[in-house]
Amino acid sequence: MDAKRIAGEKAVELVEDGMTVGLGTGSTSYWAIQKIGQRIKEGLKVKAVASSKQSESIAKELSIPIIPFSEVECIDLYIDGADEVDKNQNLIKGGGGALLREKILASFSKQFIVIVDPSKIVETLGKFPLPVEIVPFAAELTIKRIQELGCTTQIRQKDGAQFVSDNGNIILDCHFGAIPDPSDMNLKLHMIPGVVETGIFVNSLVSTVIVGNN
Ligand code: 5RP
Repeated sequence: MDAKRIAGEKAVELVEDGMTVGLGTGSTSYWAIQKIGQRIKEGLKVKAVASSKQSESIAKELSIPIIPFSEVECIDLYIDGADEVDKNQNLIKGGGGALLREKILASFSKQFIVIVDPSKIVETLGKFPLPVEIVPFAAELTIKRIQELGCTTQIRQKDGAQFVSDNGNIILDCHFGAIPDPSDMNLKLHMIPGVVETGIFVNSLVSTVIVGNN
C-alpha cells in the first residue's frame, strides 16, 4: 500500500467517539479523511474542522460533519501532512498553500499528528522551498525584506496565474537551501510587516510524527 495512505490510515486509529478532529490538506491527509469517512459510515461519531476549502469539500462528499470555527471549543486531534520533517521534528508545511489555517489548527489542537512518507524526513529543513504567506499590499517591499534573510524567492503560480490562498493572500516560496535554526527563522520572518504566516512549524506544536513505510 502507498506509504502516504499507510500513514494517514494509521493516524485515524487515534480518532475516538466524541472528538472534534482537524482535517489537514494534501495527498497524505486525503487518505486520513477517506478513512475518517469510512469509520463514520461504520458508526464513529465525530465533528470536524477543515484546514482548507479543498479538504472541506472532500469531507462533505464523505458526509463528515463539518462545524464552523465559531462552534469549536477545542480540537482534540489534528491530522496533517508535511513537506519536510527534521531530526528535531520541526516541519516545513504549506506545499498546498494552506499554511495559515493549518498553523491555526495545529496551535489550537490538543494533539497534532503529522503523517508523512519516508521521503519527507530530512536532517535539516530548507531544501524544500519555504512557503511564506504575505499580504498583496506592497508585496514587492515585503519580498525585498524577506530576501535580505538570505533566500531567493518565487511568487507561487497555479495554472498560469498567481496563486491566491484561501485567505486572499500571496504565497512566496523561499529558497534558503538550509534552515539550521527553524525557530529563529520563523521569528525573523514574523518581524517583517506584510508577513502573515510562515510554513515553519516548530516542534513544540507537534505531538507525534507517523512515517508510513511500504
Ligand atoms: C498543505 C501542506 C501539506 O500537508 C504538505 O504540502 C504535504 O502534502 P502531501 O501530503 O500532498 O505531500 O502543508 O499546505
